[in-house]
Amino acid sequence: MSLLIDNIGELFTADPTLGVLHDAAVVADEGHIVWIGPNTAAPETDERLDAGGRAVIPGFVDSHAHLVFAGDRSAEFAARMSGEPYTGGGIRTTVAATREASDEGLRANTSQLTTEMLAQGTTTVEIKSGYGLTVADEARSLQIASEFTAETTYLGAHTVPSGADPDEYTALACGPMLEACAPHAKWADVFCERGAFDGDQARAVLTASAKAGLALRVHANQLTAGPGVRLAVELGAASADHCTHLTAADVDALASGDTVATLLPGAEFSTRSPYPDARRLIDAGVTVALATDCNPGSSFTSSMAFCIALAVREMRMTPAEALTAATAGGAKALRRKDIGRISVGARADLVVLDAPSHVHLAYRPGTPLVKAVVHDGDIVR
Ligand code: NIG
Ligand code: FE
Repeated sequence: MSLLIDNIGELFTADPTLGVLHDAAVVADEGHIVWIGPNTAAPETDERLDAGGRAVIPGFVDSHAHLVFAGDRSAEFAARMSGEPYTGGGIRTTVAATREASDEGLRANTSQLTTEMLAQGTTTVEIKSGYGLTVADEARSLQIASEFTAETTYLGAHTVPSGADPDEYTALACGPMLEACAPHAKWADVFCERGAFDGDQARAVLTASAKAGLALRVHANQLTAGPGVRLAVELGAASADHCTHLTAADVDALASGDTVATLLPGAEFSTRSPYPDARRLIDAGVTVALATDCNPGSSFTSSMAFCIALAVREMRMTPAEALTAATAGGAKALRRKDIGRISVGARADLVVLDAPSHVHLAYRPGTPLVKAVVHDGDIVR
């Protein structure tokens, strides 16, 4: 079934060779983009979606989310807004609720969040484990995650569970837990932070995970300027995520390698932390991605548009840079060449905005601007 999207006022391709086109049309067939050209030259197809002069952008690629969980931490959020600091200690609250939950309950929560994301234009999402922290609970979290996405991430090293010895737990995460989780995971991640896993422990988990065939990403430099970013670059991780507290050496390391800096401004919003400096990274030549970090503790938003607005207002990104980071940047952070851009051969994942240009994503924060979503060539909304 072929699909024509025509009368596109502004086509933001996020593809450097195509840039932004006006008065354009796009044809999808068999789930892929097969033609892009001037509206006046649009061919006949089976189905047609009239964009009515609106802007069309690539589907958002949310490359960092923690969606398999149970429970609510709104009281912790309210306390933070009254001055309590965020330490990551609340992860254990969600771990307790997640262990208690049934498979069906976890599946229903994950389904609700992914549905919410798709309705807001997110056509690819990465989903991490990390709220089970036993062999069985991590494996079932990943099993459930894999029902919703191919981008599954083993995060057994999210925090040391209450009562466990840090080195013994690290050995578990490098051994039997990894073995049980690897069949359901594409990626491995570790929270490298004071109070979670130090540089040596993070290195052990990442090295063992790479040996088990998983590709790497790291929660790095969120709360302190620790060793996470440099470790991510050294081990060839696809992405170093958060990057809130960076030294000059961290920026140099990112600039010298191929590791994407994934910025998660929803976390800074919700933890009242200073925002990362995207401008400093971009000016150093680092590829930046934007993602939601959707989780019940530090960033309970499923909205990529909200993250774009924050990045533009607070992180010195232009609207075009922020949208590119939320699409092509996320794709690079997931090492995917088939998504995050509108070009011939790419997957037909597109969003029609109820707006004349992509700038409105930041210009009209909090406003639902998704008019239609095309996923794998099908109009899904
Ligand atoms: O990315 N920092 C580590 N993990 C999550 C937060 C998890 C939580 O607070 O439940 C994050 O911010
Ligand atoms: Fe996270």
